[in-house]
Amino acid sequence: MQIKSKLPSVGTTIFTTMSQLALEHKAINLGQGFPDFNPDPALIQAVHQAMLDGINQYPAMAGYPALRAAIADKTQRRYGRLYDIDSEITVTSGATEALMASFQAFVHPGDEVIVIEPFYDLYIPAIQLAGGIPVAVPMTAPDAAVPYYRVDWDRVEKAISSKTRMLVINFPHNPTCTILCPQDLDALEQIVDRHPLMILSDEVYEHLTFDQKEHLSLASRPKLAERAIIVSSFGKTFHATGWKVGYCCAPAYLSTEIRKVHQYTVFTVPSPLQAGLASYMQDPATWESLPAFYQEKRDYLHQGLQQTRFKPMPSEGTFFLLASYENISDLPELDFAKHLNQAYGVGAIPVSAFYLNPNSEQANHRLLRFCFAKQPSTLDQAIERLQKV
Ligand SMILES: Cc1ncc(COP(=O)(O)O)c(C=O)c1O
Repeated sequence: MQIKSKLPSVGTTIFTTMSQLALEHKAINLGQGFPDFNPDPALIQAVHQAMLDGINQYPAMAGYPALRAAIADKTQRRYGRLYDIDSEITVTSGATEALMASFQAFVHPGDEVIVIEPFYDLYIPAIQLAGGIPVAVPMTAPDAAVPYYRVDWDRVEKAISSKTRMLVINFPHNPTCTILCPQDLDALEQIVDRHPLMILSDEVYEHLTFDQKEHLSLASRPKLAERAIIVSSFGKTFHATGWKVGYCCAPAYLSTEIRKVHQYTVFTVPSPLQAGLASYMQDPATWESLPAFYQEKRDYLHQGLQQTRFKPMPSEGTFFLLASYENISDLPELDFAKHLNQAYGVGAIPVSAFYLNPNSEQANHRLLRFCFAKQPSTLDQAIERLQKV
């Protein structure tokens, strides 16, 4: 039988490819973004207890009420906005489902959706599945004068047309490790003043910012929050990426539509995981301690890379850092990442993979993304191998 693919250009993701290569070459995998350590035993215990307590059947479609209450409390403490647990908070199957449900709920065939390039790989196929047209606006790449990536909001605004339905942003940003500053939020406020679009704000790394810099959520500005869907992930926050529990906060008029898709995609999310998370989150230290925990790991890898010919760049947030190999090779990023895997046994992700056209010159800045959500012994082994490059 002949089938007509809805996503003809989608193949295996770079994360799977690099992880497979890492397995083949027994490489230390600093590629895919997941911790190689367990969640807090207290969280595992809380989930176990929930199972023993009989919390094993379908929970409410929008999420276990105590977890929605814990999310409301955390969001209010951190960003000053109280989302209504009945109508504005939805627990989803990872941030992935919240993103996918948002695209499905709001993007109509022919609508344009602006994404900032480089971007997390889910956005483009998800927009296409909904019949939308992705419009990529590149970040300004690092150069000698400004050695980090940044968004040119004028350029973003110029990309808005009468067909633009949505702007997708992701800060702390994967893969460039930059965070929002107040001027970015000011620029976004001006954009929403002038254009009737909504913002899908992927904030899965909201708790991973460093050097005393706080994540600035769109929830902290009423004008933005009114138009925004804010997505987060307990997988990233509590070192449990395999549990696939996330959530989104959005005004009721948006949440209602997202829930219509959520209801018929997964209906709900495993109840003991939700109940365990709710009871664990009663102590705010569980998330307040994360910046210090990850900053130590970031600094460890940064210092380790300084002992090699790689040049680490500053990372303001996420559990990644970028490093340049301009002193080592002229190869395009994908080729160099494969070579590093095969010849030296270290897996990393080429930043070019987060571009619409990974082989173009604009996508290749001789940068690799390394994940530092690893135990010190893993980072030690990787650094030892990278010293040989
Ligand atoms: C920017 C970004 N958004 C969303 C996700 C997916 O999160 P989850 O595992 O909770 O679905 C990831 C995971 O890597 C990510 O990096």
